Amino acid sequence: MPDTILLTGGAGFIGSHICVELAKAGHRPVVLDNLCNSKPSVMERVGRIIGRPVDFVQGDIRDGDVLRRTLRDFKVRSVIHLAGLKAVGESVSMPLAYYDNNVVGTLRLLEAMEACDVRSIVFSSSATVYGVPKQLPLDESHPLSTTNPYGQTKLVIEGILRDLRQASDRWHICLLRYFNPVGAHESGTIGEDPHGMPNNLMPFVLKVAAGRATELSVWGGDYPTPDGTGVRDYIHVVDLAIGHVRAMERLDTIGCEAINLGTGRGTSVLELVKAFERVNGVRVPFVMKDRRTGDVASCFADPSLAHTRLGWKTERSIDDMCRDAWRWQQFAVAQGL
Ligand code: NAD
Ligand code: UFG
Repeated sequence: MPDTILLTGGAGFIGSHICVELAKAGHRPVVLDNLCNSKPSVMERVGRIIGRPVDFVQGDIRDGDVLRRTLRDFKVRSVIHLAGLKAVGESVSMPLAYYDNNVVGTLRLLEAMEACDVRSIVFSSSATVYGVPKQLPLDESHPLSTTNPYGQTKLVIEGILRDLRQASDRWHICLLRYFNPVGAHESGTIGEDPHGMPNNLMPFVLKVAAGRATELSVWGGDYPTPDGTGVRDYIHVVDLAIGHVRAMERLDTIGCEAINLGTGRGTSVLELVKAFERVNGVRVPFVMKDRRTGDVASCFADPSLAHTRLGWKTERSIDDMCRDAWRWQQFAVAQGL
């Protein structure tokens, strides 16, 4: 019997790729999503990749009834919890919406899981919980802090989950701290689909390359990095998705543990832009601007714990990320998405 895995937020960028990798590994994904940041057609496109329809429930994680019904009806064994709001800037202007959706939503989910005797969960945390890096690479013992309400919701939820394991060793919890997910499934039919003008680097590069924005603003050329631009640990979303499958499969061996998912390699803004232009044969005009408030110079992972605990490491390069992201962008434009 395949394991049935509930993915909250499974219609989103990362969740849709996890659906594919779960199915490939012989598991059965069930998606619960309120579609506040995704489209219903994503599920059809995932279904085409895996060759069968995906079980989908349109619902909100703050709705205990729908959660309990879904957990029971589908005989869910474990949960991968991705649902949440994720825009740092928006969280500063709408903190209550972020605490409600992310923290209250997680509480409702955990209550429903306990009521249905499901006590295995993989949670989408973020490298944002490390705040300003005191040393690099960032390992899981780095002190935790944050500078915005979005990051605060991740810290609070990590704390709730640790307390839960403290209270009962029947819970098995993996806190996955992602670095910068980019790229798309190699079919080019699913990918990141931000509303309006994106704030993140790769989605903006895609807009410029597609002629939907005139130029990229490079936020800061005077950082203490090799070329002066910000350095990040970009991870291909398919590698990230496979990391979730490994974590879910090993939950029985995990009490409550935080694990980085990154490549361990830093790439600057200009390196990424150059790679994108070279791999795809397109131009990405850019202008140098002042630093963006709140940005750090460099941020990259020590991914060795993921290797020892999950038997996982990344396999896809920056070139793969640029190629697959561009294939997805062209598909999205052609389909009018
Ligand atoms: P996304 O917005 O594409 O996906 C999130 C999904 O959750 C969306 O489909 C949305 O409709 C759904 N959702 C939101 N609130 C919901 C609710 N109350 N009930 C049901 N569904 C709800 O985002 P993503 O990039 O796929 O991120 C997934 C998770 O990973 C988030 O928790 C995010 O904070 C975390 N994360 C993302 C990044 C990143 O850079 N993308 C980095 C670190 C962590
Ligand atoms: N950048 C530009 N121009 C842009 C967008 C970004 O130069 O138009 C630069 C940024 O200054 C930074 C780098 O590209 O140096 C990456 O920026 P992103 O906005 O893509 O990513 P961040 O590292 O700033 O933030 C991401 C997520 C956050 C998360 C954080 C830490 O968006 O949610 O990683 O994990 F908190």
